[in-house]
Amino acid sequence: MSEGPSPPLSSPPPLLLGRGQAPGKAILLGEHAVVYGRPALAMPAPGRGTQVELYALLSGGPVEWDLETPLDSPPHRRRELDAALADVHAALGVPPRPLRVRVRSDLPPAAGMGSSAALAVALARAVADAAALPLSREEASRVAFETERRFHGRASGIDNTTAAWGIPLAFRPGAPPEPLVVRGTFRFLWVHSGVTSSTRDAVAAVAALRDRDPGGTEALFDEIAATVASGRAAIARGDAPSLAAALTSNQAHLRRLGVSHPAIEAVITRALAWGAPAAKLTGAGRGGMVLVLAPDDPEPLRRAFPGAVEGVLG
Ligand code: PMV
Repeated sequence: MSEGPSPPLSSPPPLLLGRGQAPGKAILLGEHAVVYGRPALAMPAPGRGTQVELYALLSGGPVEWDLETPLDSPPHRRRELDAALADVHAALGVPPRPLRVRVRSDLPPAAGMGSSAALAVALARAVADAAALPLSREEASRVAFETERRFHGRASGIDNTTAAWGIPLAFRPGAPPEPLVVRGTFRFLWVHSGVTSSTRDAVAAVAALRDRDPGGTEALFDEIAATVASGRAAIARGDAPSLAAALTSNQAHLRRLGVSHPAIEAVITRALAWGAPAAKLTGAGRGGMVLVLAPDDPEPLRRAFPGAVEGVLG
């Protein structure tokens, strides 16, 4: 056999400096009121998250982003990504260096699944890994909170806390998160309403409502807190009908806060028609995901929503 021309010299493989990952999240009960100090319940997004790898950049720089859609879209614009990375370096006391940042995620952006918090926690873990710094989940959460505020304006901290802890939590701003006690199992489907929404705008709309009617809005937040407490107790007892009642009541609160949307209501109506005991928006609302509690036999619901993300609490 004759020898052909030798293959071109390939460039050396890129030098991997560090990696980090984090799950997305789904709020079960209590969004928006949690921004004003009330409790809320959240769980990691089922099997979904964000991975970051940092590579040494030999030429160019200071930072090259290697992204895939859907990450490369708002709220993940390059300027915000650069700022988030700078925040992470500053918060960890690690000097910035030329980097190629590879980001992969299967979280839909602007849909209430905590994609920006998952990215922030994964970035913090990757930068710490590259600097050989140990990073506790409390520290990862704290660092990510800085970038959350940049993405969201006012933020409660529930997204970064759930992304950093990676377990179902009862969360209240300013208090250590408590692992959620779950008896039995609760199956959920996450159905996209088909409408993307901005958390920053939804949070601002609730703030405007509170400015107009502080007494009424604070009273509504208190009602939400009571519903969160009864939902938490239902989860601890393995009591699906009571959890369904809490989810339904919380959706009514969220409507009154003005953060539902006709597309969300259409998903809820369809889910109930296919046998779901309850459904509500999850996250900031005005679009995004709808959280559907599945009945004992979830098959008809699965057929009704073929693209749904499925997850189990417990
Ligand atoms: O839209 P998401 O997934 O980022 O959820 C935001 C939850 C809010 O309560 C509306 C805001 C917050 O920071 O808690």
